[in-house]
Order: sequence, then C-alpha cells, then structure tokens
Amino acid sequence: MLMNVQPPVHFDHARCTRCALCEEICPRHVPETTVVGGQRVPRVNPKRAELCIRCGHCVAICPRGAVRMDGISAGEHSPSRSPAVEPGALQELFTTRRSVRRFKDAPVTRDHIDRVVTAALSAPSAAGSTSRGIITVTDPTALDRMMREIHRTYEGLMRALGSTVGRFFVRRYVGPRRFRAVTSFVQPALRWYLRWYREGERDEISRGAPAVMVFHGPIDEPSIDETCMVMATHGMLMATAIGVGSLMNGMIPPACNQNREVRDLIGIPEGHEAYISLCLGYPRYQFRKTIRRPSGSARYV
Ligand SMILES: Cc1cc2nc3c(=O)[nH]c(=O)nc-3n(C[C@H](O)[C@H](O)[C@H](O)COP(=O)(O)O)c2cc1C
Ligand code: SF4
Ligand code: SF4
Repeated sequence: MLMNVQPPVHFDHARCTRCALCEEICPRHVPETTVVGGQRVPRVNPKRAELCIRCGHCVAICPRGAVRMDGISAGEHSPSRSPAVEPGALQELFTTRRSVRRFKDAPVTRDHIDRVVTAALSAPSAAGSTSRGIITVTDPTALDRMMREIHRTYEGLMRALGSTVGRFFVRRYVGPRRFRAVTSFVQPALRWYLRWYREGERDEISRGAPAVMVFHGPIDEPSIDETCMVMATHGMLMATAIGVGSLMNGMIPPACNQNREVRDLIGIPEGHEAYISLCLGYPRYQFRKTIRRPSGSARYV
C-alpha cells in the first residue's frame, strides 16, 4: 500500500553482487546502492522509503535472490523461456470472446471460480493495493436476495428520475457527465428490465447468472476503480479461456454501494466501494461468428 513508511524490503548482503539492478528497476527509486564501510551495498533510501508501492520488482529482478519482501512470495521464472501463451492464440481469445447474457441453469464449479479469482488477483494494481477484494456470490438464496435488493434500488432511482426535484438530486449526486449516461443509456433500458422483473419474467440486470463477482476496494486508494477494472478484465479473459461465459457488469456495483442490505449481505467492508462486477456461468448458446468490434482510433506519431 502507498505511504508505507518502512518498506518491508530486505537485502542479503552476503549474496548480493552489487549489480544495482534493484536500484535501476524500482519505479519509485526506493533501493539505492551506497558505500558502507568501504563497500557498496544496497539499502532502502530512508527519505524515499514511504514511496514503496510493494510492486515486487526489486525481488523479481535480483539475479542472486538477495532481495526479500515481507508478505510477497516469489516464484521461479526463467527470462529466456518463450512466452507462456502463443500471441496468435491470445489474439484469438480476444477476438472470439463475447459477452454472455444467457446462461445454462448450472452452477459454476469451484475450480473454475478459483481460476477466475486467481487470474483477477494476478492483475496489476495502481498503488500496490493489498486491500482490493473480490466477493463471489454463488449461493442461490443470497444471489436472489441481492438481486431483489438491487432491483429495489433501481426502482428508487427511477422514481427519483420521474420528478424534477428527484432529477436535481440525482444529477448533483452522480455529477453531470454520469447523469447524462444515466438518462440516455441506463434509464431507457431500466424501464423494461424493472417491469420484467416485477412481472416475474426475468432478471436482465444480472442476466440470471449463477455466479456474480464483485470487485471492491478502499474509496481513498489512488485509481482503485481502474485497479478493479483491470482485475475484472483478467478474470473475464481467464473465464473465456476455460469455457466459462462472462459479462462485465456495470449496473450491479452502484446499486451494491447504495443498498445497506446488499453491503451487509455480501460483506463489502466499510470504507470500500464496489467498482465493477462480472457475471459468470456456462453459456447457453455458442456464437458461430466473430464480429468485428467498432474500433476506436489508433494513431502512430
Ligand atoms: C465497463 C463495462 C460495463 C458493462 N456493463 C454491462 C452491463 O451492466 N450489462 C450488460 O449487459 N453488459 C455490460 N457490459 C458489456 C458490454 O455491453 C459489451 O462488452 C459490449 O456490448 C461489447 O460486446 P462484447 O463484449 O461481446 O464484445 C459492460 C462492459 C464494460 C466494458
Ligand atoms: S539486484 Fe540483488 S544482487 Fe543486485 S544489487 Fe540488488 S540486491 Fe544486490
Ligand atoms: S517493491 Fe517496488 S516500489 Fe518497493 S522497493 Fe521494491 S521495486 Fe521499489
């Protein structure tokens, strides 16, 4: 976590060859080699100790295994090894992945959930987050209750948007940019989704997924929303690789944050917010074509 006054980085001077790679690689210039007793040794620069983001680069780069960090375990990795994934296969995964919104009526196996969680937790984090979290809801009763509450929250939003005073407060709460997204994108769809749910037809918010993963983190952590987004993306791609259908879902988190019952039910910690969610389940249908996605611009300068 940012602002660690004493970074838990330790150097084994007996092993160290003074190559200074740890100094060179650190994104925050925390380690430095300095002369102590006539010998150059690596140490933590005391003035920059608080800058450590616990990224583990210093541990990963050291050719002698002479850097250790509390709370970070290091696995072996040979740099000469060819890439773990063939690039063409990776691009194929990106191209063929589609958002899945119709799921089989079957639970996702624990092994598959664990793989998605492991992939998500392998994602980078903006500030060396140790507090980011993933909550996976698979218990049918809990999921049912959670989605009922989420629909109730959105019913409240729709009522508010129906009056001038309500619209004023919603706009003030979410800000003008998000308010435009709410009125032009979310509100028209919600009219249908809420009606169908009320009439007992279907849940078009979670799409009836048998597993919902909520990505959360401390509101005061730098770029925590992006950190959650990257976690979810890693999870989504692993889900695709193992044949689990996934849907990145931006409608679930705001309602989780607003609704005390949901927060308590799934255990979102105090001071945390949910930023993105993933709906998971086995796809009911197989897509037969890849669709060229509307591309953004890419310029080379
Ligand atoms: C940040 C984000 C939030 C999303 N939220 C929702 C959502 O709440 N409900 C939904 O049905 N799809 C949601 N999607 C899925 C997009 O609609 C989908 O990715 C897009 O239509 C492109 O389709 P594809 O993923 O199959 O390429 C979300 C996607 C992203 C990236
Ligand atoms: S990278 Fe390892 S061997 Fe090189 S200076 Fe740092 S601790 Fe010593
Ligand atoms: S963990 Fe990262 S930020 Fe901290 S000292 Fe090592 S390389 Fe620098």
